[in-house]
Amino acid sequence: MNPTLADKIARAPKAELHIHIEGSLEPELIFALAERNGVKLAYDSIDALRAAYAFTDLQSFLDIYYAGASVLLHEADFYDMTMAYVERALADHVTHAEIFFDPQTHTERGVAIETVVAGIERALAEGEKRGLTSKLILCFLRHLSEEDALATYESALPLFDQYAHRLIGVGLDSSERGHPPSKFERVFAKARARGLKLVAHAGEEGPPAYVYEALDVLKVDRVDHGVRSIEDAALVARLADARIALTVCPLSNIKLRVFDDMTRHTLKDLLDQGVAVMINSDDPAYFGGYVNANYFAIVDALKLSDKEVYTLLKNSLEASFVTDDERAEMVARLDAYWKQ
Ligand code: ADE
Ligand code: ZN
Repeated sequence: MNPTLADKIARAPKAELHIHIEGSLEPELIFALAERNGVKLAYDSIDALRAAYAFTDLQSFLDIYYAGASVLLHEADFYDMTMAYVERALADHVTHAEIFFDPQTHTERGVAIETVVAGIERALAEGEKRGLTSKLILCFLRHLSEEDALATYESALPLFDQYAHRLIGVGLDSSERGHPPSKFERVFAKARARGLKLVAHAGEEGPPAYVYEALDVLKVDRVDHGVRSIEDAALVARLADARIALTVCPLSNIKLRVFDDMTRHTLKDLLDQGVAVMINSDDPAYFGGYVNANYFAIVDALKLSDKEVYTLLKNSLEASFVTDDERAEMVARLDAYWKQ
């Protein structure tokens, strides 16, 4: 890629809207926390763990991702993990982040949801002081039952009050195939009635029908991944018309073999058809890069123009769950930067 464009991207103010905080846990920190907490890992070195990051599909990744998260026990662990992400985000000129967390991964090991949120919040509050605004989105694990999701939702109700400035929505992640969005209709209806923002992973490995369900049954505000929408022309037109953003994660899509290689990625087709796509890192510690690395990889492979990159950046800001004033201010900052 043209080094001037790479540098311009690197320093551009941007929002990241699809980052699983547990997916930012680097192998070094996994080992440090395992030692601190006396947790036994199935790998005897950092290199051995890293060597296992050779995924064949979403499930092969999730198995290792949940094993990595097993070292998180105390408030300080969630703080350390989140602070490490805050540093990486600031280094990539992320000015606003909307961060997913998976409470069930921790509560099923006996860690209280209050501990999880308190540690994440302490780091995000520090991030705010350093120029990174953020929101938090509670994700339900779709391989578990809706009853489990409902119980998690009920247990989080006091937290939606206590952390109303931060904890603004719910999402849906984990194993997509065989677990359609409609499985979670009731819990999303409750979250919607409460005025929470709604997102769901759909059309990552699953078919366009899952994207329709996310829109029509869950009534989501944004779709996470959604790249398989390209297989259905009517769906693409609908996403474009309704300005439903897709939070696309290029390196993730290659590592999990959604596409054979980056030149086959469908982001540019979606962009050309007017869909509000934007760029994210998903699980940066596992997929080989934080948000800027994702921009570099996709811009390089698809030979995106200066104008197309600007659109991706602007889409990231416009799709953020912030007030209209905050959004206008973020876009004005990008415009001033991009023109100079
Ligand atoms: N959890 C963490 N990363 C995920 C992904 N890419 N898809 C589904 N669930 C996830
Ligand atoms: Zn994801």
